[in-house]
Amino acid sequence: MKYNKRMNNDFSDKVTLAGSDDKTKLTDGSLSFLCDFVRMKPRVRTGRLAHEMLVKAARIKQSIGAVPTAVDATAGLGEDSLILAAAGFNVTMFEREPVIAEALRKALEEASSDPELSEITARMTLIEGDSIQGLRTLGFSPDIVFLDPMFPRRVKSGLVKKKLQLLQKIEKPCEDEEELLASAFAANPQKIIIKRPVKGPFLAGMKPAYSLTGKTIRYDIIVNAERR
Ligand SMILES: C[S@@+](CC[C@H](N)C(=O)[O-])C[C@H]1O[C@@H](n2cnc3c(N)ncnc32)[C@H](O)[C@@H]1O
Repeated sequence: MKYNKRMNNDFSDKVTLAGSDDKTKLTDGSLSFLCDFVRMKPRVRTGRLAHEMLVKAARIKQSIGAVPTAVDATAGLGEDSLILAAAGFNVTMFEREPVIAEALRKALEEASSDPELSEITARMTLIEGDSIQGLRTLGFSPDIVFLDPMFPRRVKSGLVKKKLQLLQKIEKPCEDEEELLASAFAANPQKIIIKRPVKGPFLAGMKPAYSLTGKTIRYDIIVNAERR
């Protein structure tokens, strides 16, 4: 079956989800991005995974036998969630843009029949909706809340990966930083991990306990003293 689904809000009317049953892509007519996790395989293999900055940022205190839990409150196309799931977390993902959520759903479906990915994606659950409300009605306190909202300032397009360029066309820069962070606190995690451009300001101006800094990305980590 072929399909071509247009975004329905003004900001995103140029990006569509197109494809056939086996391959799905987000496209604006010139740029396109294949929505699957195949390109992520080398990053989730044993040996490479421990070097991922997100995995280092996500180290937590764990009770013996307990399965660690994470909420990715800004799931996008789920690549960061996949890293967390590969590291052993049960990941609940929130995505509020319907076409991005559908792209992620298709990527998860496809991965479920891939022997290298299926065990990882079995730990990933997608909720289509806004995490600002969702984080307050989870029914459990996750070990980690991960936030990667769209950065307000657009970086020159040549410097941004294809995936981000398309997401930037769909999603407005984050205008609800304070609400998002307040909801992350309300979920009472051990850690809130925030992904930022390396020189970007702190989310909602909140200074983290510490940061892990790479070439282009920085992870700001807020530690919840009550869960230590
Ligand atoms: C920069 S992208 C995240 C990329 C993602 N980390 C990945 O690995 O693909 C930000 C995403 O968060 C979503 N988003 C932003 N605020 C949200 C909210 N309050 N609830 C749910 N989704 C949200 C946007 O629609 C967008 O798809």
